[in-house]
Amino acid sequence: METMTEGKTIDMEQSAAGRQPVVQIRKVSKYFGKRKVVSDLTMTTYAGEVFGFLGPNGAGKTTTIKMLVGLIGIDEGSIAVCGQDVTRHFEKAMANVGAIVENPEMYKYMTGMQNLMQYARMRKGVTRERIDQVVELVGLSKRIHEKVSKYSLGMRQRLGVAQALLHHPKVLVLDEPTNGLDPAGIRNLRDILKNLAHEEGICVLVSSHLMSEMQLMCDRVGILVNGQLIQVTSVEEMVEGMQQKAPRYRYHVQDAQRAAALLEQEPQCTVELTDGEHLEVQLEGEEIQTRLGQLNRKLMETGVVLFTVAPTESQRLEDAFIELTKGDTQIG
Ligand SMILES: Nc1ncnc2c1ncn2[C@@H]1O[C@H](COP(=O)(O)OP(=O)(O)O)[C@@H](O)[C@H]1O
Ligand SMILES: [Mg+2]
Repeated sequence: METMTEGKTIDMEQSAAGRQPVVQIRKVSKYFGKRKVVSDLTMTTYAGEVFGFLGPNGAGKTTTIKMLVGLIGIDEGSIAVCGQDVTRHFEKAMANVGAIVENPEMYKYMTGMQNLMQYARMRKGVTRERIDQVVELVGLSKRIHEKVSKYSLGMRQRLGVAQALLHHPKVLVLDEPTNGLDPAGIRNLRDILKNLAHEEGICVLVSSHLMSEMQLMCDRVGILVNGQLIQVTSVEEMVEGMQQKAPRYRYHVQDAQRAAALLEQEPQCTVELTDGEHLEVQLEGEEIQTRLGQLNRKLMETGVVLFTVAPTESQRLEDAFIELTKGDTQIG
């Protein structure tokens, strides 16, 4: 019975996306000293998708990626790649991982091809045919016999991708791959990564702090803020979620009926009672912070006992989106 139930769970996970799970992150946490920088992260990525970790600087994207590729240890929880536990079966797990986390190592005085040949010698079972294949996949066929010192940053990045693909990994992991690339380079890389996922069936896992970029590159994104995965969503849903809504706050008060009666008299303020002690308030218009302060003062002055007031879950997400679009100059 036990086994049957387990089997069923796995089947359900497959059918949820209609695809094979590739990276399975389960309740993963990471501490630096006493600071928890990745907190209870759980998610799965699938074959054939481009998945993006999206979050502001310091959110924990690189830390998560480093745990996945085995560069740093996992403090709590587990990560598996194609069913192989990264900690317990490191080599078997890594056999399915291709990654560029720090800058790819390249010999600038050698050609792109020479670099790949050199690297292939260190890996088992990489054929000349495979080398030609990966060169084709990253669109470097015409320039592969030129010295790397003549390559643009975008071309070096693509050579790095080719190198990472040599051993037929099931997942390709790239940390902030578009950093430093010009718009043409970004577009080029984006097309290559999409092609790898959608045509070759690879799971491509990238990270970025730019929402517009993830929007164009990914099928799904996981939004990471302060080490917490606050949402995993399709890109379409993310864009919908971004349509700015009026901010919503959840109040915990002693007498929700009475508080609601007072708040309902306020202009541009919609009140929704949840239960005897909770209500949600939506504020339209300008100067939200100031008005929120005024509302709270008014409540207290009229004797309503106010325990807490906090942004709602959807509001937290909204705030995260706003944070993510800061400095984001290439929307669309
Ligand atoms: N080796 C380290 N020692 C201590 N703190 C670290 C270390 N690496 C990262 N951090 C901290 O962990 C948090 C997450 O960092 P990081 O994963 O690099 O974020 P991101 O890649 O999303 O910008 C940051 O606050 C960062 O300062
Ligand atoms: Mg980073």
